[in-house]
Amino acid sequence: MAYLTRKQIIIRVNIMTAPKKKPSSPNTNVWERKWKPDSRHPARTIPRELPNEFSRVAIADMKRRQVRKVLELGAGAGRDTAAFVENGFDVTAVEISKSGATRLKNDFPAALIINGDIREVKLSPQSTVDAIYAFSVLHYFTDAEINKIYKNLTPHLKEGGRLYIAMRSVNDEMYGKGKKVGKNTYEFNDAVRRFFTPKTMVAQVSKNGFEVVSMSDRTVQYHAHDGDHKSTFIEVIAQKKVQPKKSSLRKFLTNLFKI
Ligand SMILES: C[S@@+](CC[C@H](N)C(=O)[O-])C[C@H]1O[C@@H](n2cnc3c(N)ncnc32)[C@H](O)[C@@H]1O
Repeated sequence: MAYLTRKQIIIRVNIMTAPKKKPSSPNTNVWERKWKPDSRHPARTIPRELPNEFSRVAIADMKRRQVRKVLELGAGAGRDTAAFVENGFDVTAVEISKSGATRLKNDFPAALIINGDIREVKLSPQSTVDAIYAFSVLHYFTDAEINKIYKNLTPHLKEGGRLYIAMRSVNDEMYGKGKKVGKNTYEFNDAVRRFFTPKTMVAQVSKNGFEVVSMSDRTVQYHAHDGDHKSTFIEVIAQKKVQPKKSSLRKFLTNLFKI
C-alpha cells in the first residue's frame, strides 16, 4: 500500500475542492452590495426619471417598429426598466443579483422579473420577444461567454427583431485604469471590464447573426459620491438576420444539383 506524503495530501485535497468553473465574471457580490436596500451607491439612488439616454433612442426605434415585448438583460436598479414599463412595453428582465431582482419585482409588478444569469437562464421555450436590450452589461464577459449569451437568448428574438446594446468604449474615462488582464480589458474597482472599438463591436454582433443598423460613441456625465465622471459607451442597434428556411434551402440544394 502506497502512503501519500503530507504535501501530496494537501495537493489532492486542493484539486478535489477547487471550483470546477472560474468564479463568474462579474462578481455577483459586487452587485448584491450595490443593489441592497441600504446601499448609497449612486447607480442605485439615481432617480428613475433619469433613464440612460440610449433607452430613449431605443424606445423611439421600438415604437416605430411596433415592438411590444422587450427582454432586458442585467436590469440593475431599473432605470431603463421604468422607461420601458412607462412606455407600455411588455417587459421581461433578467437580473443576477437577488437584491436587485427583489427590488425590480416590487417596483414593477406588471413586468416579468427573472432572478437569473443571462448566460444560462432558461426562458420558457415558446416565449418570443420583439427586442433585446442590454445597457452596460455585456462588457463584463469574455467573448466565449458573450457567444453563450447570444446562443441562449437570441433564439427567443423574432426574426428581424432588434438588439439594442451599449458597451464601454475604448474612449471611456475608465479605459486603462487598474490592472490590464487582456487586450482592452482591465480589472478595476472589483470588476473586469472590456472596452470596445467600433470594429470589435461590429465583429461581435455580426458573428452572432446580427447586422448593424446604427452605431455611435456617446459620452454621458454622471454624479457619483467621489465626484463627477464621464462614461463613454458604444451604442449599437443591430437586426437579427433572417435565416433561410429549411425548405427553401433544400429547394436551393436540389436546384443546384440539377444543374
Ligand atoms: C452596470 S450594471 C447596469 C444596470 C442597468 N442596465 C443600467 O444601465 O442601469 C450591470 C448589471 O448587470 C447585472 N448582471 C451582471 N452579470 C449578470 C448576469 N450574468 N446575468 C444577469 N445579470 C447580470 C448586474 O447585477 C448589474 O445589475
